[in-house]
Amino acid sequence: MFRGWSALMGDAARVRPVELAGKGARADEPAYADVADAAADVARLVRAEAGPGGWALLGHSMGAVIAYEAARLLPGDGHLVVSGCPPPQCGFGPRWRPDTPDQEIVDFLRSVGDLPEELARNTEAMAYYVGLLRADEALLARHTVLVPDTPLGIPVTVLWGDDDPVTKEHDPERWRETVGRPVSVHTVSGAGHQFITRRAQDCARVLRTELAVRRDPHETRRTGVDGDLLMNTGAQMYLDLMKKVLTNVVYEDPPIPSAWASDTAYDHINRGAGLDWPSTAHTMVGLRRLDNLQDCVERILRDDIPGDLLETGVWRGGTCIFMRGMLRAYEVADRRVWCADSFQGMPEVVAGHPGDVELGTHEFNDVMGVSLDTVKRNFETYGLLDDQVRFLPGWFRDTLPTAPVRRLALLRLDGDLYESTMDALVHLYPKLSVGGFVIVDDYLIDVCREAVHDFRHQHGIHDEIQDIDGYGAFWRRTS
Ligand SMILES: C[S@@+](CC[C@H](N)C(=O)[O-])C[C@H]1O[C@@H](n2cnc3c(N)ncnc32)[C@H](O)[C@@H]1O
Repeated sequence: MFRGWSALMGDAARVRPVELAGKGARADEPAYADVADAAADVARLVRAEAGPGGWALLGHSMGAVIAYEAARLLPGDGHLVVSGCPPPQCGFGPRWRPDTPDQEIVDFLRSVGDLPEELARNTEAMAYYVGLLRADEALLARHTVLVPDTPLGIPVTVLWGDDDPVTKEHDPERWRETVGRPVSVHTVSGAGHQFITRRAQDCARVLRTELAVRRDPHETRRTGVDGDLLMNTGAQMYLDLMKKVLTNVVYEDPPIPSAWASDTAYDHINRGAGLDWPSTAHTMVGLRRLDNLQDCVERILRDDIPGDLLETGVWRGGTCIFMRGMLRAYEVADRRVWCADSFQGMPEVVAGHPGDVELGTHEFNDVMGVSLDTVKRNFETYGLLDDQVRFLPGWFRDTLPTAPVRRLALLRLDGDLYESTMDALVHLYPKLSVGGFVIVDDYLIDVCREAVHDFRHQHGIHDEIQDIDGYGAFWRRTS
């Protein structure tokens, strides 16, 4: 199942598939008496393999129940990943009785698209496979799930398939009750129960980020840079510190609870990945997307791509402040940073794209609306408000068509909606230099992604879209 994962995880983790007793290469060993027995064995294997960087344990389907129980037995320098498995206390019980005929099991597996065709055609292999499944089911049947009093002391990532028949009745967030702490849920679309293999690249990408954030929540990590660094060490340290201050991983301000994230406590994974609304920090985009912004600006400077830097959707101004900070660090005096925003929050979309209407983001304007004065004050706090910073206050549809921007090297879109994304692309993409970058902060949001794809389709743009952190994406203009 995890063949090829070493390559997919790269240097984020050394991958060791765990073979359970009674199966595969360990087929000669007696099967486990119960889940506790299996968990103790897995914990022993993990202990033997874990290096100085700690351990991470991933279990899929029933394997997640075993992984969770094993994680409770392991030291606290780890990370648990549960995949394709309902929270055990919600009844991930056996699906078949001992007397269920083989054919019924085969039919079920077929119906959920969980049966490799070559296996289905091989009667002998099929009988062996069904036997293994029966053994797994029997193990689960004997397992009593208790939600323990002590929370699990390690980060927990939940991989969830939005098309997984095994979990579809359940709520991934309820893993939080199982483990007694906030969990980081990532939904993978399509591919049924076997999304972990069919969408292995997507899953591995998520895990690379999750593990990197866990390793050092305060480390800012540079991704995707090619070529030499442009900076001297002092400038590099200034920019690294800026990223930590702008996201406030330094003083760890709590998030503002939202409709989709009810957390009230600071969580380093959420903040690093830009998944919360900070109560104080000057940006919500997280460390990885600031790293990406830095990479893009450095490549622009190194390759001498002409033009200014512009963001549509600045909120408290954090990413624009960072762009201005980069120009200062590299002593660039002939480029500007443009900040486009209503400075009163999201537009109320009444007759636009149905997805925008449904999102109703204007309802969050008590959080989203940040005044121009506040943003200017934020720039001033860093000593970065000057002539090289320009503001475009108003709705994008009104300000962008006539914005006095001559040429851009970087266009960062962070307006969340179809309308906001499309307005920015229509009016600003023609000003983007070849060799410049488009960064789409909200590529994970359906309406935003749809606007990007519609625009690219309409204009025959085929430049490769590259993932940043599973949430944002970017491309470099080649023609
Ligand atoms: C998610 S926030 C931006 C986050 C910001 N880039 C950061 O670094 O934290 C979205 C911003 O887009 C602005 N916005 C969205 N659509 C807009 C539109 N059509 N016109 C003007 N402003 C818009 C909102 O006012 C809000 O400040």
